[in-house]
Amino acid sequence: MPHFPTSWRRWHGALLLAVGLAACTGGTEFAQTTFHPVSDFADALNRVFINTFGWTIGILVLVLVLLVAVLVRFRERPGAPHPRQIHGNTRLEILWTVIPAVIVTFIAVPTVQAVFTTQRRPAADALEIEVIGHQWWWEFRYAAEGVVTANQFYIPVGREVHLRMTSADVIHSFWVPRLGGKRDVMPVPRGAEGVAARANHIVFVASEPGRFRGQCAEYCGEAHAIMALFSVAVSSDEYAAWIESMRDTGAAAAPAEPGPAQGVQSNPVAEGRQIFLSKTCIACHAIANTTARGIIGPNLTRFGSRPTVGAGAAPMSQENVEQWIRSPQSLKAGALMPGAQAAAAGFPPTGLTDDEIRKVAAYLVSLR
Ligand code: CUA
Repeated sequence: MPHFPTSWRRWHGALLLAVGLAACTGGTEFAQTTFHPVSDFADALNRVFINTFGWTIGILVLVLVLLVAVLVRFRERPGAPHPRQIHGNTRLEILWTVIPAVIVTFIAVPTVQAVFTTQRRPAADALEIEVIGHQWWWEFRYAAEGVVTANQFYIPVGREVHLRMTSADVIHSFWVPRLGGKRDVMPVPRGAEGVAARANHIVFVASEPGRFRGQCAEYCGEAHAIMALFSVAVSSDEYAAWIESMRDTGAAAAPAEPGPAQGVQSNPVAEGRQIFLSKTCIACHAIANTTARGIIGPNLTRFGSRPTVGAGAAPMSQENVEQWIRSPQSLKAGALMPGAQAAAAGFPPTGLTDDEIRKVAAYLVSLR
């Protein structure tokens, strides 16, 4: 039993504990881990990583063991003769050329296979979703289904999904590590002929349900760090129900009439709706089945069901939505939405009073 200093033993114990704890929490605490893939795409990438990492660790250990053995075996000793000096060894040279070539083959073949798997053409019945990166949020358009959403999008487990991705301004990068990516989204002038050529694609099949966090992975300006997105994988029934709940039929649904015992003044949600639809909010935002049709900012249909405000700026809550409406830049420096008192990105202040902000926030949070 080798004797190690006490301090080293203590560190050794702490290291083992840390490794053990990391193994316990992996996948739940680290929302953006690549080591718990939930799609064929991410699984293919993870396999390439594990394979390459395994070979390199094996080589590292072998080289270190040989190095230490040689250092010990041929170390200088008082009175010992010089070791035998060798120049050239054809067998050894052939070996250290052939063995790396074989190892590279074992790395290259699965890697090229993964490249083809992750670059495949989508199947004819794949679910098509158009992804558009904006400074600093994500837009998702389900053209065939008539659904538009932002910062959180739903996909059915087990069905092939085809993301067709572009940017409305600068280069962003789409990355939901547990599902796959990352892949840059390139600016394309809206409606230009070049869209088809400039769009990037991700094709994958989600293998288990859950809400998976992603993040823009290409520096894109001031609020790059707060450009999160959430992908929600659900059963095909739940997906169909979600689509139905998001669908814009074009008919502006009438607001719920306040009952006789419940005057307009006592219903902040109905009042907030009225304020939202009569103020400048609708110049930028759309909400399905209302008269709000703006397309500059994020679509707010079922906004309250999103986990965060401002693409990851703060958790979804009445207080945070109020704060966001009052001063988006206080939660997300650089946000292009004007506040109640401050202009932003050329848009004038909304001029909403604190009471109006409270009611509009109540309305938006109620959209679940
Ligand atoms: Cu978008 Cu970084």
